[in-house]
This record gives sequence, structure tokens and C-alpha cells, in this order.
Amino acid sequence: MNNVNRDKIKLPLRLLNELSERKVNFKLRNLSVYKGGIDFISNDYLGFSKLGLLHQQFSKAFSDQNFLSGSGGSRLISGNSILKEETENEIANFHNAEAALIFNSGYDANVGLLSSLPQKNDLVISDELIHASIYDGIRLSYAKHYKFAHNHVEDLEDLINRHKNSFENIYVVVESIYSMDGDEAPLNEIVELLKQYKNVFLIVDEAHAIGVFGKNGRGLCNEMGIEENCLARVYTYGKAMGCHGAVIVGSSTLRNYLINFARSFIYTTALPDTSIANIAAAYQLLIKGTQQVKLKENINYFLNEAKKLTSLINSKSAIQCLVVEGNTKVSDLEKQLLIKGILVKAVKSPTVKEGSERIRICLHSFNTKEEINILISLLQ
Ligand SMILES: Cc1ncc(COP(=O)(O)O)c(C=O)c1O
Repeated sequence: MNNVNRDKIKLPLRLLNELSERKVNFKLRNLSVYKGGIDFISNDYLGFSKLGLLHQQFSKAFSDQNFLSGSGGSRLISGNSILKEETENEIANFHNAEAALIFNSGYDANVGLLSSLPQKNDLVISDELIHASIYDGIRLSYAKHYKFAHNHVEDLEDLINRHKNSFENIYVVVESIYSMDGDEAPLNEIVELLKQYKNVFLIVDEAHAIGVFGKNGRGLCNEMGIEENCLARVYTYGKAMGCHGAVIVGSSTLRNYLINFARSFIYTTALPDTSIANIAAAYQLLIKGTQQVKLKENINYFLNEAKKLTSLINSKSAIQCLVVEGNTKVSDLEKQLLIKGILVKAVKSPTVKEGSERIRICLHSFNTKEEINILISLLQ
């Protein structure tokens, strides 16, 4: 078939118009393939993927296994395996939880969790900056949803007090490290606040904290000593862990509930065991801990040098953001940096609020001081 025929069926006009509107003011999303360049863009914070560390660890641990390329079914049909069950037990132990359940991605984990736990008479209160996957999960539930101002514990308290008598249960959802700002949630304050109420539960998405914070990269809940105060914690494997998939940890009853009601777990083909072995190998690398030390050094070095930059969002994580107002301006800066061989991401509206467009910089264990110096001097 030639291209002319393939392209014959056009999208409805309304959709074509919406797409055209996106082109105005740099709002159109495009796929890019980066060839080379200094990496300040990927979420591979510990270089587990880029440095080939996971491949090495994986082949050492699993070279004699003949994994199938596909799992052949959902976990509830034929896609389960001893490796999956054993790895989940190890993950639960690592994260100081009773049980763990692996999902195919962080997106699936959040959608499954938030669409199945909150019920019709329940309320979800989330930070206004939570990830799209959490929003999508909440939208699929029958619960009511309110947002509190970013990291504003008083606002959260006010919402709970206003609504606690009108709902059966309240689920409070935060990210420990916010993906587009890199700042951290005031977890201790939130936990102290929630202790005052019955039927108010905390859910924490640790996507950008695993590998970076806590003992051996256990996450920020571990660092803050609040693991046992969470109803559920979500850890994703596509970022610092350098592979793919995600896990929800919590009680055995939570695991059992999700196996029965989380549709993004039930109605999808399970990850193949190669992916599970990769996840297990990534945990072994976390336990070794060498890359975490290098990443911490680079974060500290960047923060020290970046004092010269104004409008840097306050963050101690691997995600650092420089606010550059306006889609045109931020896109131009991204392009200028690309010409110099530096890969960063311009985060534009509507992904972030208009006026808070930013250059998102991801720091890694493998970035050199020279690379950081070049980046900072160009940003200046
Ligand atoms: C906070 C947060 N949660 C969940 C996800 C989704 O994870 P995954 O990429 O594994 O689907 C992301 C990814 O961008 C994220 O930043």
C-alpha cells in the first residue's frame, strides 16, 4: 500500500482544528529522537540503564534462565510465575511493607489504585500538582475529588475539616518528589495532620524518590520514617531503577483487594519474567549503593554552583527546574542548549501552568562536574 492510500481516512474536522490550535504558541507535542549529547533529560538518575549496569547485573544473576519473551496472559490467567511472586515478596521486605503487587507501569499502578479504592461516598484530596496518571485514576472512580494548593498543609487541613462529615473515607494523595518541580512533599507534617482523623488515608507516589532518597534508595517515606503511615506507596521502575514497571506496596489485604478490583492489573497481559528479573537486578544494584553516592555528590555540586541562577525551583532531588516564562522563550532556550550539545527538556504550558514554563534538568550519577559547569554557564 502506498502512502496516499494509507492516509485516505482523515480525522474529523474538529480534531484537526484542535491539533492546529496546538501549533500556535509552541503547544504542539512532538516526538524527538536524541542522538548523543550531554544527558540532563532522562530519568535514568543512577545510570542503571545508560551505563549498562543493569545488563551486567541482570546477566550475572539470570544468565542460566530461559525466559520466555512474553508472559502469555494476565496474572489471573496464565501470566503469573514463581519469579513474580518471589520478587514481590522481596520487594515488600525491601520497602518495609507486608505485601507488594507489580503493575506494568507507573501509569497502570496509579490508574488501578485510584480507580478502585475510592468509592461513591468517598473523597479524594490531592495536591494540585499530582501526576496525570493519578488524575486519570481518580476520574475513573466514582469518588469526589478536591485539590489542595501545592504543598500547602493548611489548605489540606481546611479541606478535610470542611468535608470530613460528608464522606465515608478520605484518601489524600501526594507525590513524595514532584515530577515537574523536583520539590518534596511535607510528608511529616501531612502524617501528623492525618493522625487526628479516622478514615483519612495517605497514598504516596514515590516515582522520583526511589533510588534517590532513603536507606539504599528506599525512597522519601523511608527517609522520613513514615512508611507505616501510608495506606499505599507506589514505586515506579522506569526512572532511577533504569527498567520498566511499577509496584504498589502496603498490607496483604490491599494487595488482595487490588488483585480483585484494580482493572489495570486484571485486564492486561502481565510483564514477561525478563522484566521482573530486571527489576530484581535493579534492587540488587540499589543495595550496592555506589551510584546513589555519585548522584548525591552531583546534586550537591549542582546546588552549590547554581546559586548564581535566579528562578530555580527549590529542590534537593535529581530534578532541578529553572523557570523561564512563556512557551516561546523556554523552547528557544531548549534549542540553544541543544545546539551546544546539552539535552534538557522545556516543559511548556499546558503541561505546567502558564507563566511557570521551565527548563527541566535531570541530574545523574554519571554527569561530570565539567558537564554541570557547562550547563550552568549556558543557563546564566
Ligand atoms: C509521579 C509519577 N507517577 C507515575 C508516573 C508514571 O510512571 P510510568 O512512566 O512507569 O508509567 C510518572 C512518570 O512520569 C511520574 O512522574
